[in-house]
Amino acid sequence: MKNRSNPKHILVTGGAGFIGSNLVLTLQERFPKAWMVVVDDFRSGNFKNLTGFRGDVIARDVSRMNWREQFGKTRFDVIFHEASITDTTEHNQQLQTHDNVEGFRRVLDFATDVGTPVVYASSAATYGISTDQINVETQSPKPANVYAFSKVILDNLARHYARRFSRTPIVGIRYFNVYGPREAHKGVPASMIYHLAQQIRAGKRPRVFKYGEQKRDFVYVKDVVAATMLGWGAPSGVYNAGSGCACSFNQVINELQRVMGTKLKTEYFDNPYSFYQPHTEADLTLSRRVLRYRPQYSLRQGIEDYHASGFLAG
Ligand SMILES: NC(=O)c1ccc[n+]([C@@H]2O[C@H](COP(=O)([O-])OP(=O)(O)OC[C@H]3O[C@@H](n4cnc5c(N)ncnc54)[C@H](O)[C@@H]3O)[C@@H](O)[C@H]2O)c1
Repeated sequence: MKNRSNPKHILVTGGAGFIGSNLVLTLQERFPKAWMVVVDDFRSGNFKNLTGFRGDVIARDVSRMNWREQFGKTRFDVIFHEASITDTTEHNQQLQTHDNVEGFRRVLDFATDVGTPVVYASSAATYGISTDQINVETQSPKPANVYAFSKVILDNLARHYARRFSRTPIVGIRYFNVYGPREAHKGVPASMIYHLAQQIRAGKRPRVFKYGEQKRDFVYVKDVVAATMLGWGAPSGVYNAGSGCACSFNQVINELQRVMGTKLKTEYFDNPYSFYQPHTEADLTLSRRVLRYRPQYSLRQGIEDYHASGFLAG
């Protein structure tokens, strides 16, 4: 694919956010000669995540910006689309659906005009409260909230555009429960790993729903950045990006206490949510085969790396 080894212009939406900023800084290191442009309206992102960034930032809403007017004749070698409302407790259906879906539609219209490959953030939330233990891309979506619903519509749009514009690759990377450096700004929507670490650091007992045995596919941000970059060059489609393992909240607490040197007793409390996912676990057959994705971090290695980065200290 053209310019994948030596890109000149790379665009990342949502680049001031958690995953977006990790992606931007990794791309900058990998392609030091490329001109990098971030579009982010900072509704949940933070400029501090972009410390060390040498490119341009456009502080605009992707769902309202006039893309052609903004970029004129600039042609990007690739667009990574991470911008999204990410607070799953934002229940304003019109806002969540408008901003997430229209933002993506504008990206697709702009990209397919000139054949620019698009890699976008899909979500394991689309699987919903599935009784299946392992989440495979071919499963029917069962969104349990409007955030997940908006992501299902993104996947539908991606399929529709990929059929219409068969020469423009449109690739969804379906992230599972991502954790790692540069997530602190998210507040409540940050990962459970981050929140449990903050409780432990403050000397408080870690608190989880009874009895901590619900399992999640926790995936380290360096692995999802790698999967996202592998999406550039892949055929259109949606690909899971998890660790491939489901770990319980009790395991997370044990690993955190091990690296943080504490022995606090876990406090279990009743789960008030009927729509709580009991288990998420990515089937990686497709992403291993097509993307050549190989997650590098087990839960233990991810938590160790996160702790060593200094970002877990808040
Ligand atoms: N973190 C996870 O575990 C996870 C899991 C599944 C999917 N995702 C997806 O990954 C992507 C990145 O998520 P994140 O965890 O980094 O969240 P984040 O909130 O840190 O990042 C999202 C960024 O997008 C920006 N943004 C939101 N709406 C915008 C708009 N209309 N115009 C311009 N900028 C806008 C925000 O300011 C923020 O910087 C999102 O699309 C999210 O849905 C994340």
